[in-house]
Amino acid sequence: MSDAPEWPGPRVREALRRGAFDMQAIYRALVFDEARSHGCRLVDLDGRKYLDLFSNFALGALGYNHPALLDVARSEAFARAAVNPTSTPFVTAPGWFDYVEALQARYAPPGMAKVFCVDGGGEGVDAALKAAFIVLGERRRVAAGLPANPLELPTDAQRAMLENAGTDAVVVSFEGGFHGRGLGPLSATHSKAIHKADQPAFPWPQVPFPANRFPRDQFLETNARAEATALDALARVLDQHRDRVAAVLVEPIQGEGGDRHASAAFFRGVQALAQQAGAAFVLDEVQTGAGLTGTLWAHEQLALPSPPDMVVFGKKMQLGGFFATAAYDIRQFGRMYQTRNGDRARAMLGLAVLDTIEAEGLLEYVRRTGAYFLSRLEALCEAHPDLATEPRGRGFMLAFDLPTPALRDDFLKRALRRGVFASYTGTRSVRLRPHLVTSVAEVDEACDAFDAVLGEMRA
Ligand SMILES: Cc1ncc(COP(=O)(O)O)c(C=O)c1O
Repeated sequence: MSDAPEWPGPRVREALRRGAFDMQAIYRALVFDEARSHGCRLVDLDGRKYLDLFSNFALGALGYNHPALLDVARSEAFARAAVNPTSTPFVTAPGWFDYVEALQARYAPPGMAKVFCVDGGGEGVDAALKAAFIVLGERRRVAAGLPANPLELPTDAQRAMLENAGTDAVVVSFEGGFHGRGLGPLSATHSKAIHKADQPAFPWPQVPFPANRFPRDQFLETNARAEATALDALARVLDQHRDRVAAVLVEPIQGEGGDRHASAAFFRGVQALAQQAGAAFVLDEVQTGAGLTGTLWAHEQLALPSPPDMVVFGKKMQLGGFFATAAYDIRQFGRMYQTRNGDRARAMLGLAVLDTIEAEGLLEYVRRTGAYFLSRLEALCEAHPDLATEPRGRGFMLAFDLPTPALRDDFLKRALRRGVFASYTGTRSVRLRPHLVTSVAEVDEACDAFDAVLGEMRA
């Protein structure tokens, strides 16, 4: 790759001229050869190979063309699920029950009583927030001596609802958080101004996120102080909005905001404050979920004294949605519903991903190999302290920083020309999201390439 005359190559450049009708064509960097890409090796139309540490923003789990997924996709059952989409809440086929029962028995986080499925991660956040608002709304009506059921309210109150009377209830979220771009979740998203420009937003409060400094053992006091300050701020905000907070929404590790971590103790503190305030404690595991951090759900590593109220999923799960404890099981007909609510074909692939993670012992593998990857990133930062800092990660959710956005972007371009496809996050961080099947040799290959790139940048 390093001596390649031009990038991208001629076939990719030719292909990139196509598809301009797609509004998103402005983002496109690569056109790949689907048949020739395998495992973590992405092959482009010119035959150039990349070690894929991007995995399409953590969407990819098992690498390209995993046999277990191809087997599902080639099956008669999959073909039928794909060509016969249904409004799953109303009409379904038995395969859907296989999926839901497997989630219930093996893959849902402990303590969850129900699942609600949509297509993508942001939609899952949107739906979870709606469930939180419904539960709070019912509780507030009952406390005011009114019926819990909004359809039992007087007709003028119902007419006001149709005319957008809304509610003064709020969701509390964290500075730097990302929860999707739909108009609901966007009000809880605070990672980049460009996401929010010109969009109306709910006036929901935001509190500081105590992004830990790394290596952690060198910043124990700084990190502890930032976490205590953030918890104080959260307590104040919850008090200011007493009885109006439907949910406290947080990512176990902030992904889009720059791979920002906080300690398990901090999350336990957030949960305790949310519980005291009567707000749902909602974990957004769209990016961290389905094995990326070395446990199926990242929050399994937080030693929470009780389950979160809701856990949102997406990406590697192939569907979006949320798991909920019994208190957030919305049973009133017509309140929570979308036409599809459970694409059976994608559920089959999602289940195959989860079954393969289990069958191949990938969680333990990701924990072990992720720890090795992090140790190599730490060594890299020690070798290039003027360029690479703050090595951090859990499992295969890894990152480090460069001094400026321009240097980070330069680093990524140079790495790509050496055949390593990494990505950006936050303002100046390199985001690594290896597929769960990335080998130790591939980790070494990536770190050797990074070392060479950093050396080249200093030259
Ligand atoms: C934590 C988190 N929540 C929500 C989303 C939105 O997911 P989607 O883009 O699938 O709607 C993302 C996407 O990156 C995410 O990282």
